[in-house]
Amino acid sequence: MTLSPTVKPTPNPYIVLDRKLASVQNRLFQAAHSQPLELKHLGIALNHQGIKGDRLYAHPDMMPLPLRRCSYLQSLSRRQLAILSACLFANFYKLVANSECQTLISNMTAAQKYFLPFSDDYMILHQETSEEMDHIWTFRTIHSMICRETGAKDTFECPGFFRGEAAFFDLDDWEAINDSARLPGDYQHVLSLLREKDGLTRLLAEMKAKGRAWRFRVLNFLIGEASSFLSAQQVQDLGLGGLWLLVRYISNVDLKQVESYLLESPEDVDYEPLAYQINQGHLHDEARHYTTSFDIGLAMYRSAEPSAQAFIRELIRLTMEDYIAGTFLHFPEMLELSNRGRVCLTISLGQNSLAMALNHPEFSDRQVDIDQLYREWAAMEWGKVLPPVGPGLLAQKRWRYIALQFERLRSEMQFEFDSEHLGNLLQRYEGILALESLNEPFVLS
Ligand SMILES: [Fe+2]
Ligand SMILES: [Fe+2]
Repeated sequence: MTLSPTVKPTPNPYIVLDRKLASVQNRLFQAAHSQPLELKHLGIALNHQGIKGDRLYAHPDMMPLPLRRCSYLQSLSRRQLAILSACLFANFYKLVANSECQTLISNMTAAQKYFLPFSDDYMILHQETSEEMDHIWTFRTIHSMICRETGAKDTFECPGFFRGEAAFFDLDDWEAINDSARLPGDYQHVLSLLREKDGLTRLLAEMKAKGRAWRFRVLNFLIGEASSFLSAQQVQDLGLGGLWLLVRYISNVDLKQVESYLLESPEDVDYEPLAYQINQGHLHDEARHYTTSFDIGLAMYRSAEPSAQAFIRELIRLTMEDYIAGTFLHFPEMLELSNRGRVCLTISLGQNSLAMALNHPEFSDRQVDIDQLYREWAAMEWGKVLPPVGPGLLAQKRWRYIALQFERLRSEMQFEFDSEHLGNLLQRYEGILALESLNEPFVLS
């Protein structure tokens, strides 16, 4: 008598990755975890410690606040600046954690639909999901500590990268995403198009015609729950796993362009050591995730039907354009957009951090009207140049990084950006790529 029945594998509907790819991924994962590298213990230590002393949690030039121009900000004490930077750190990683929640669902769905259960290929996305859970847990712990220390009432839930909140969005979009994202009618409609011949062409036309909010809502469905209603073969033919990982690649790039510079020049700045270790540890994990997104994303994309590849290519182009339109902006341009009723993630990151910090007893005699402050900044004279020093240099570095990584994917997928839609922002994108050295001022087109 056998105690456990042997499960016979069903006829194999799964794809197999290039052997080198899977073995490199697994070797990197083992190397990363042979020493305990989880972030939780650092989050726990930071929670016990609280916001201590004058040490910073972010480079002042990476804080989306005019620290060099605004007299109120300039007059903050070192201790107050440390508290403000801690609030920014917590708010930034709150955004990251909310985005990572999507990866839990989408990674596991893609693994199930593409790879033989528990094979080496399957385990790559499984391992990453386990790391994301560690990240989310840690970032939530840090956020709770900052709320406790400042006395701010702030929820952990916020927009994430995958629900239409790339860089900036219209308030109407945000409400539409929240109110109707779960309407089964839309889901049924999209699923029926996915099953029809020429359905992808019609779906794409609808996604373009019905506006950005509807496009993002459908995209969110396609990279996540849609696969649960389809067979493995259908998902692979449609390339939905590829779509997911390539969209993930775009947000990996967006994450890294901030996170890699958030605690820049540790030799010159007195950083809170635990915050620094958390930032470095997360960067390490995400560097591997970034590689997975690109390599496995492209392998899945290439295993899709030609019509599905064309559909994915177009959605990737539109998504990248959204990021370019929201990222290649100067601080005053972001201020202007947010004054015109758009929600700009960078601006709200600064506003939320300041609002949280003002709750701290250390700020009791430094209260300020935040709305008034932002109105004053919007009214200031701002040059249209990124200088090769301070925040200007960091913006140049970040833009160059984004453009280089986007070009990697664009050249693999072979598409052109819509210059009419992007206008001068595409010129900035191309200009930063063409720049010989970052030691010169970058004049904004
Ligand atoms: Fe993460
Ligand atoms: Fe990740």
